[in-house]
Amino acid sequence: MTPVFHRVLRTRQETRDTFTIELEPPESTRASRFAPGQFNMLYVFGTGEVPISVSGNPARPQSLVHTVREVGAVTRAMRALKRGDVLGVRGPFGSSWPVEEAVGRDVVIVAGGIGLAPLRPALYAIMAEREKYGRLVLMYGTRTPDDILFRKELERWRARLDLSVHVTVDRAMASWRGSVGVVTTIIPRAHFDPRTALVMVCGPEAMMRFSILELQNRGVGIDQIYVSTERNMKCAIGFCGHCQLGPEFVCKDGPIFRYDRIQRTFEIREI
Ligand SMILES: Cc1cc2nc3c(=O)[nH]c(=O)nc-3n(C[C@H](O)[C@H](O)[C@H](O)COP(=O)(O)OP(=O)(O)OC[C@H]3O[C@@H](n4cnc5c(N)ncnc54)[C@H](O)[C@@H]3O)c2cc1C
Ligand code: FES
Repeated sequence: MTPVFHRVLRTRQETRDTFTIELEPPESTRASRFAPGQFNMLYVFGTGEVPISVSGNPARPQSLVHTVREVGAVTRAMRALKRGDVLGVRGPFGSSWPVEEAVGRDVVIVAGGIGLAPLRPALYAIMAEREKYGRLVLMYGTRTPDDILFRKELERWRARLDLSVHVTVDRAMASWRGSVGVVTTIIPRAHFDPRTALVMVCGPEAMMRFSILELQNRGVGIDQIYVSTERNMKCAIGFCGHCQLGPEFVCKDGPIFRYDRIQRTFEIREI
């Protein structure tokens, strides 16, 4: 439960309201191992503690990377931190994306907005052992072109011949030459085998609900779909009950669930 001090190595503005913060693990640990999809509790001293998924490369545990959207007091205070400042870290916590289970299958990744950040470690892990997987498809939707995260990296991935990258925006200005429309419009035409593919979905809840419906229309079974859920958290270790989603505790049973496990509660809005 005690936060471990980490020094800020650097911060980088990704979009108007989103930044990436890179932390240096203390001498005693030297490395911050995590599984793709897991999160840490980040404590800005004097302001508060919030759950944030790790967005870095699991093969590079020498620095701990998170990508954060500024929405309130703690995330704003985090953005104000400078190189050398200290942040408290508890974790990593929670379940992870099933990259091992996906071996030998097509992998489909559906991300909305900041939802690409928790999925990026899974992409790194799959690309590190690319030959073990079938087709790899990334579908990413944001509100506007200015909200696209990791733009340079997406361009590099798009240039690869072993990864299909589809990016779409809800609204665009005249200079945008890419797709316009919600991410669900890409699902019917993307190339993957719906009978065997493993699908990972992360984004706003409404986007995840519609993506799941569209995936089901393509013939993907709900036991092939994994989603990442978000609830307010306090302890992150299954004690306080703040994060309950029906019978599940998002902090310890989640945040990533196979969809058939949470379907009944997930379908209820505002639960
Ligand atoms: C497992 C997990 C992983 C997360 N990963 C990331 C991540 O990688 N990057 C990132 O930017 N954010 C992530 N979040 C969300 C992040 O924890 C919240 O944005 C943060 O707690 C807001 O804190 P704040 O003090 O800045 O804002 P607050 O002042 O607490 O809230 C500002 C606004 O955000 C809303 N809000 C607060 N917490 C949440 C939440 N958990 N879910 C939805 N809305 C919320 C409030 O209702 C309010 O409208 C994650 C949340 C969970 C549970
Ligand atoms: S955050 Fe306390 S039980 Fe999950």
